[in-house]
Amino acid sequence: MTELVKPVPAKDELLIRICATTVSSADWRVRSLEMPSGFGLLGRAALGIRRPRQPILGTELAGEIEAVGSEVTTFKPGDKVFAFPGSRMGCYVEYRCIAADGPVALKPSNLSYEQAAALSFGGSTMLDFFRRGSLQSGERVLVNGASGAVGTAAVQLAKYFGAHVTGVCGEANLELVQSIGADEVIDYTKDDFSRSGQTYDVIVDAAGTAPLSRSGRALTSDGRLLLVLAGLVDMIKAPFAGITDTRKVIAGPVAERPEYIHQLRQIAAAGEFVPVIDRCYPFEEIQTAHRYVDTGRKRGNVVIRIGRDPE
Ligand SMILES: NC(=O)c1ccc[n+]([C@@H]2O[C@H](COP(=O)([O-])OP(=O)(O)OC[C@H]3O[C@@H](n4cnc5c(N)ncnc54)[C@H](OP(=O)(O)O)[C@@H]3O)[C@@H](O)[C@H]2O)c1
Repeated sequence: MTELVKPVPAKDELLIRICATTVSSADWRVRSLEMPSGFGLLGRAALGIRRPRQPILGTELAGEIEAVGSEVTTFKPGDKVFAFPGSRMGCYVEYRCIAADGPVALKPSNLSYEQAAALSFGGSTMLDFFRRGSLQSGERVLVNGASGAVGTAAVQLAKYFGAHVTGVCGEANLELVQSIGADEVIDYTKDDFSRSGQTYDVIVDAAGTAPLSRSGRALTSDGRLLLVLAGLVDMIKAPFAGITDTRKVIAGPVAERPEYIHQLRQIAAAGEFVPVIDRCYPFEEIQTAHRYVDTGRKRGNVVIRIGRDPE
């Protein structure tokens, strides 16, 4: 913990007093340099050789606008917002500036600050993958890793888009995944979805255990495999899969677009996406929160409360 100078918003920026942020799998990867297979050196070069290049982690936030720049007309002081600086990070602070036309939107009034802080990471990841995978209403979707931050967003957003959803998770999380809308659940410690004979139009792999060599058996002839988590080799092979096969593989980093944040606001305000919160920690206990995420067993999201909650 250290004292920083309070930032001053530029003419097109908002100054947000942060009430909540999260410890996401991105924070864990940047801090620990635990990278998917093949990304060890690349990860170190991109994220920092000896320590994280961005010293302040935290990809997403919810809070209250304290001040706005002279040219801002779309927000005002007192507005409750959530935002997704994403790979720029920098949310483990009390105050942060963000461009008014950036990835920031009014907080849905039906969500707490803790819930709103956890809307963006999993939510925008899955909006981007479902867009790239052209998910259609009525399709059958399987989510591998359905109990994590990305997986719980994938299940709820796929249901919102009108899909029939099967969630794959460990035994302890079957009830959770059913409670957020999965039509069917599979315990990966007992059953292998790829050998059940059932096929899916879209398979989301948020656990890194379902590359094309395994998922191929369970994809329809024009199915799409969305590799949210993939090793370097599978990521390089992904664009070429569609050349020899009618099925597509989509992988790689997600695009971080402000419109996803506005879309998430609408979906959440309609009650169709409620982020799953596993644990909340006060800011002072952020190390304990990171240690918990290090176990790899978090359910949905781990939230950090910062300062006083105005609600
Ligand atoms: N491509 C991108 O730009 C992008 C964007 C966001 C995230 N990601 C990556 O996506 C991955 C998932 O992110 P996250 O935030 O959802 O992580 P997370 O919250 O830590 O969740 C991971 C989940 O995987 C499950 N899991 C572990 N082993 C499994 C197995 N064999 N089969 C099925 N599920 C299994 C765990 O559930 P159980 O406890 O039930 O086993 C856990 O809930 C991370 O590795 C992250 O780096 C990539």
